[in-house]
Amino acid sequence: MSKTATLEIDGNKYEFPIIKGTENELGIDVKTLRGATGGVTTIDPGYKNTGSCESAITFLDGEKGILRYRGYSIEELAEKADFLEVAYLLIFGELPTATELEKFDNDIKEESHVDEDMKKILDGFPKSAHPMGVLSSLTSALIAFNPGSVDVDSEEEMYNAIVKILAKFPVLAAWTMRKRKSLPLDYGDDSLGYVQNLHKMMFARPNKSYEPNKLVYDALDKLLILHADHEQNCSTSTVRIVGSSHAGLFASLSAGISALWGPLHGGANQAVIEMLEAIKADGGDTAKYIAKAKDKNDPFRLMGFGHRVYKNFDPRAKIIKKSAEEVLGDLGIEDPVLDIAKGLAKVALEDEYFVKRKLYPNVDFYSGIIYRALGIPTEMFTVMFALGRLPGWIAQWREMRLRKEPIGRPRQIYIGENDRKFVPVSER
Ligand code: ACO
Repeated sequence: MSKTATLEIDGNKYEFPIIKGTENELGIDVKTLRGATGGVTTIDPGYKNTGSCESAITFLDGEKGILRYRGYSIEELAEKADFLEVAYLLIFGELPTATELEKFDNDIKEESHVDEDMKKILDGFPKSAHPMGVLSSLTSALIAFNPGSVDVDSEEEMYNAIVKILAKFPVLAAWTMRKRKSLPLDYGDDSLGYVQNLHKMMFARPNKSYEPNKLVYDALDKLLILHADHEQNCSTSTVRIVGSSHAGLFASLSAGISALWGPLHGGANQAVIEMLEAIKADGGDTAKYIAKAKDKNDPFRLMGFGHRVYKNFDPRAKIIKKSAEEVLGDLGIEDPVLDIAKGLAKVALEDEYFVKRKLYPNVDFYSGIIYRALGIPTEMFTVMFALGRLPGWIAQWREMRLRKEPIGRPRQIYIGENDRKFVPVSER
């Protein structure tokens, strides 16, 4: 394999190094392109062919349906690890020892309160506000209560900021739900594990004793692990690019939450359930909706289908599908929406339109079904995704800062008007 790529423009040849990742992925390093060519740039809307960084966190092979965090397969992590272990692994690069994990857990617990004044900010939102908007705002508001910027060269400061946000984020996420449900704000119980406490903070009622449920905890833990990182997706790239201006961790995360909200990204899990409900209400005719999705004159897309990177079954979707069946079975829930989802997937997977375009169910196609079975309201689904993605965002932000990456600032090709003279309003 050649070590360089040659580009020819107007008879002039330019050589660029080809870099190779540890999984043999190849990339043409065009860092010197503009300087060498006198300003020629690359154009790649949506960055379908552009690598924004070198990263040692997550490997995914969309053709083969492989996903690994720090070298460990998602299948093995989902089965054997817990969410906090995975968070540590993603952020710091190695699985924690028992002592490291205990310290991490205790340090998080030590920070798991938010300033009481945050409640006033939450109070200002109407109950109808979408929890993702509220969560993004509250994460940003946290900066006001933790104003010191992190010295990224200080391992201690970096660690403290990470622990702080891991501790406070679930509190804020749970509060966005409690506010919508008119429930008193709650801090949960520090004697519980991270995921258990999150569940308690979301669901504990003031007038009822809280019943722990291992089945529910395990399902939630697995879902959070499956969402924990996915290399340079829209929200993660947002976190990295905002952080590249040396904006703080919380500000970068707040931007990431907004990016995740969109229905083409994390918001798809809410959109999937809404779509399945609509199909059910319309008589459950899946063929009609497959036809709509294929019709180029119809803006309808099959939500939960297709992925920028996976051109094969999303490995997370496989795990979630199995988990959805188990959870519904174990909880004794019959959800007709799961049957519609299965029917839709079966038809789509055999349909030439979807086969040709390599459109497979993605992680969001089944996750909403489990969230529903766990009693999580639809508008909270994307918040659950954000809770899972938090360690990934932190890991990517940390890596970007430690590698001292330059500020993210893409170029463009200008296609507007050429130089023209201003005409006063009276003459227009
Ligand atoms: N339904 C119908 N057709 C689709 C779908 C879909 N869900 N997804 C892609 N296509 C078609 C496109 O119309 C296009 O067809 P064409 O070649 O005839 O023009 C072709 O497949 C390629 O689609 P693109 O939009 O170019 O693919 P891209 O990589 O840009 O988009 C995306 C990926 C945004 C995920 C897209 O598949 C989509 O909108 N899916 C539905 C939303 C969704 O589930 N998002 C969650 C993604 S996973 C996540 O963020 C966790």
